[in-house]
Amino acid sequence: MLRTHTCGDLRLSDKDTEATLCGWVDVNRDHGGGVFVDLRDRYGKTQVVFGPESGAELLEAAGRLRSEYVIRVTGVVSQRPQGQANPKLASGEIELRCRSLEVLNKSVPLPFNPGQEELPGEDLRLKYRYLDLRREQMQKNLFLRSRMIKIMRDYFEEQQFIDVETPMLGRSTPEGARDYLVPSRVHNGQFYALPQSPQLYKQILMMAGFDRYVQVARCFRDEDLRADRQPEFTQLDLEMSFVDADDIMHLIDRLMQRLAKDVLGLELKLPLPRMTYDEAMERFGHDAPDLRFGMEIVDCTDLAAKAEFRVFRSVAESGGRVRGIKAEGAASKYSRRLLDELTEYVKNDFGAKGMAWFRVEKDGTLFSPIAKNFAPELLAEFKQRFDAQPGDLLLFSADTWEVTCKTLNGLRRRLGEELELYAPGQMHFSWVVEFPMFEKLPNEERWTAMHHPFTAPRPQDAEQLATDPSACRAVAYDLIVNGAEAGGGTIRIHDPDAQRQVFELLGIDAETAQERFGFLLDALKFGAPPHGGIALGIDRLVMVFANLDSLRDCIAFPKTQRAADLMTGAPGDVDHDQLRELGVRVVREDEK
Ligand code: AMO
Ligand code: AMP
Repeated sequence: MLRTHTCGDLRLSDKDTEATLCGWVDVNRDHGGGVFVDLRDRYGKTQVVFGPESGAELLEAAGRLRSEYVIRVTGVVSQRPQGQANPKLASGEIELRCRSLEVLNKSVPLPFNPGQEELPGEDLRLKYRYLDLRREQMQKNLFLRSRMIKIMRDYFEEQQFIDVETPMLGRSTPEGARDYLVPSRVHNGQFYALPQSPQLYKQILMMAGFDRYVQVARCFRDEDLRADRQPEFTQLDLEMSFVDADDIMHLIDRLMQRLAKDVLGLELKLPLPRMTYDEAMERFGHDAPDLRFGMEIVDCTDLAAKAEFRVFRSVAESGGRVRGIKAEGAASKYSRRLLDELTEYVKNDFGAKGMAWFRVEKDGTLFSPIAKNFAPELLAEFKQRFDAQPGDLLLFSADTWEVTCKTLNGLRRRLGEELELYAPGQMHFSWVVEFPMFEKLPNEERWTAMHHPFTAPRPQDAEQLATDPSACRAVAYDLIVNGAEAGGGTIRIHDPDAQRQVFELLGIDAETAQERFGFLLDALKFGAPPHGGIALGIDRLVMVFANLDSLRDCIAFPKTQRAADLMTGAPGDVDHDQLRELGVRVVREDEK
């Protein structure tokens, strides 16, 4: 070893012993007659002092050190002089008085300093990721990630799960995104798809009798990226035989309890609360509601129908919905200008046509520019519906059910944050269950699977598959943490005829089904056990546990919003010869 200790090891109890440390120069200060270096590695920081006793040569060499030089120093551990201890540092009571210095490597001037307080721009951080990863916060995030994965692996091993790796090069598994394709050299003109998830392989493993499968699985999805989505991400993926939805949820409940306890020191009460999809949409306008605070949606369509106010009445009469939320005590915090800003926000982001608002005045009356269009008795009914008190602010959306959901969810989340309705470290775990089996995508007539096509309907809804697919609810469960979908799973179809019926509903005809999923339909015929599972988004879980705003901060080498790796420059061009071998010709956008 080049060192005797790490930069996080030394304490007062090591006083007067000799130690050799290696690390990076975090900061060096030259105090005329003495050079002070904060030496850093992943374990911590130690102050290294070059004083007059180090001799002129060493002092001069120390003076030439620059940020991020990699050095090796040997010295004696000494107590810092009275009043010089640094309580913020674990090694803050001591310093290493240096006797020898070796520069192991230099650094050219840096695009940014890992020790600097101010965060550099993200593009710079991604381009020089190795410097960014030297930052203490990033190291903490990645250690947390590693620890959480270890806890998960231990937990499932205790429960007799077997870890099985599934292929990266395979057939497309539909999870609702575009595939990343890999051309085959051997089979020119044919492509593998990178897995959007190991969904079909894990189901096949149940048919193979493995009973309890788990994997920390890489998934690839070519979709529009956001702060909580990456084109390649990691799932804690599992599948079990002979179970029902309750079994899976209990299993994950206990895992969350352990993670919360071990990582955050929080006691989670089990079972985690559950709510149906319909209830979540009605009360919060979203299928992954942030339950760290209240501000539930209140329906006022019946009252709106009685109003003179044209917007409300016409929406109520034409089958739309008029719904609102109450921000307690927020009237004084939202000026006319801020309310206009909120109105623009819901128009731009959710296609709302407007946002009506009322302020409850000191005397209890409702104030709004549109108040004159409501009879006083009706205003009193609105007020009562919300149990609104002086100082409260009421915000309304009158539109289709979908738009009121999106608008009020957006407003609720924004106000929750702006009004600080939850504490920074607060955590809320819950389940949303019984999702619709199918949904119609905007501008499309056909049904798509809300989860994936292998999801089983609730037994009581199975007959409606043929008559009213929109009413069918799935045996599906999403794990929600602080308003983010941290995981999702379902009980699967294990009957080949039922699977064929669902394919048909999704517009996948028998021939296509056989061509794409023949192996599954076959396997279902050879004694397939009832089975189900779930996948947790590891990146998202780490993100909420670490209270981060971006998934990229808990992934070592993430991609940008445009799916690029700024450090390596991927994706990049490839040689003409490589393309020829693959039988692939590139047609650029402007040549189409
Ligand atoms: P689903 O598609 O819901 O289910 O994915 C499971 C979880 O993975 C996370 N996730 C993502 N995280 C980061 N970036 C992304 N692009 C991304 N997409 C999804 C989410 C999500 O809850 N095979 C099924 C699981 C099953 O049915 O067992 C599946 O993949 O946290
Ligand atoms: P207008 O009649 O369009 O001038 O709108 C009068 C007020 O009602 C404005 O404050 C609008 O923001 C609001 N408003 C308009 N359309 C809607 C709607 N669909 N839902 C809620 N408020 C609306």
